[in-house]
Amino acid sequence: MDRVNATTPSASSADDPARAAFAALRTPEGAQLLAELRDHDPADELATATRLRRAHPAELVSAALGQARLRQRAAVKFGAEDAYRMYFTPNGVEQATRTSVAAHRAARFAGLGVRSVADLCCGIGGDAIALARAGISVLAVDRDPLTAEVARANAEALGLADLIEVRCADVTEIDTAPYDAVFVDPARRGGRGRIFDPEAYSPPLSWATAAALKAPRAALKIAPGIPHEAIGREAEAEWISDGGDVKEAVLWYGEGFAPGAFRATLLPSGATLSAPAPLPAPPVGPVGRYLYEPDGAVIRAHLVADLVERCGGRLVDETIAYITSDEPYSSPYVAGYEITDELPFSMKRLKALLRERQIGVLTVKKRGSAVEPEELRRRMKLSGPGSATVFLTRVAGAPTMLIGHPLG
Ligand SMILES: C[S@@+](CC[C@H](N)C(=O)[O-])C[C@H]1O[C@@H](n2cnc3c(N)ncnc32)[C@H](O)[C@@H]1O
Repeated sequence: MDRVNATTPSASSADDPARAAFAALRTPEGAQLLAELRDHDPADELATATRLRRAHPAELVSAALGQARLRQRAAVKFGAEDAYRMYFTPNGVEQATRTSVAAHRAARFAGLGVRSVADLCCGIGGDAIALARAGISVLAVDRDPLTAEVARANAEALGLADLIEVRCADVTEIDTAPYDAVFVDPARRGGRGRIFDPEAYSPPLSWATAAALKAPRAALKIAPGIPHEAIGREAEAEWISDGGDVKEAVLWYGEGFAPGAFRATLLPSGATLSAPAPLPAPPVGPVGRYLYEPDGAVIRAHLVADLVERCGGRLVDETIAYITSDEPYSSPYVAGYEITDELPFSMKRLKALLRERQIGVLTVKKRGSAVEPEELRRRMKLSGPGSATVFLTRVAGAPTMLIGHPLG
């Protein structure tokens, strides 16, 4: 069920089957069922449900099985230890900030002396939990009654209830004046899936920006694909990746942040790169001995030019984020490769070369090519003890294959 558009908090959980089911899960019988389901195999769900229904009410069993499924999904974001103590809703787990990113954000606030935050649109509490764990007291607001109840239960389950006050309300009605900072994470999913227009967020980005500008300090979580034109010059924009995948972007406002700058932060290391936007276009030139693939956060933050300068290199094509150089360069922001061959794109030539080199394992990377890596690997009929990486890309506008292997 999509709860993003629910507006009026209903008076009691008795009116709402989802809230009644959640309340039942928090009884001793519900807690016992959830504990029993801690390690259950989802493939055996039918048999487990039949067995549990012999001793427990059917609705409670189905609520517990649903919650167990959500906890399994949530373990990826929150880690198993927290996820199996917490509660979730389907939307809540989908939209929650993963612990690594929320902790990074909370640490930036805490590092600037922020002691209290109004978390506007708290969901099931992903950010509120990280803020509280950084020693910050949080007013966590969500207008959806079930979501607010789940956030409150999570604060209690993790021993953070003293630091997190959960309020079920519309964020537009909250007076944020008493707080050192405001954090807004608008809902970006509607009834028909992901929302791309920042004005269709709930609340809209323009409202969130106005709320941010009123506060001494603020952070707004936004989609990493936000058009750069939609970012005001008052904000520092930060793109965050975790394990090489870009997870989100955040706009920072107020003292201690750098208005107009773009930043890329890589987790788990916390390596962070920042420059005033926009940077001048980097040089373009022939493929050298080394090729560098920037982290996605660096690409999204348009900081590739900064890396090109640092490594004394150039781009292989003005539209492609592959950097090349003649000297080896080591940096947390790039994955480096030594290039052994540069060929015009041709499946036939690639197949012959791979056969000659006895390549049995091929990693396919691509930028600016429509070829499907799986299809390419299938057509290569790989065999042999060797391994290689092929880059399908454009060099000075021409479809090109670069073959090599990872550095160090
Ligand atoms: C993206 S989720 C927040 C996720 C949260 N930061 C976390 O890590 O768990 C957005 C939440 O905003 C709530 N929301 C949307 N519009 C709201 C409004 N006008 N007032 C209060 N809450 C709102 C939705 O119910 C949803 O739970």
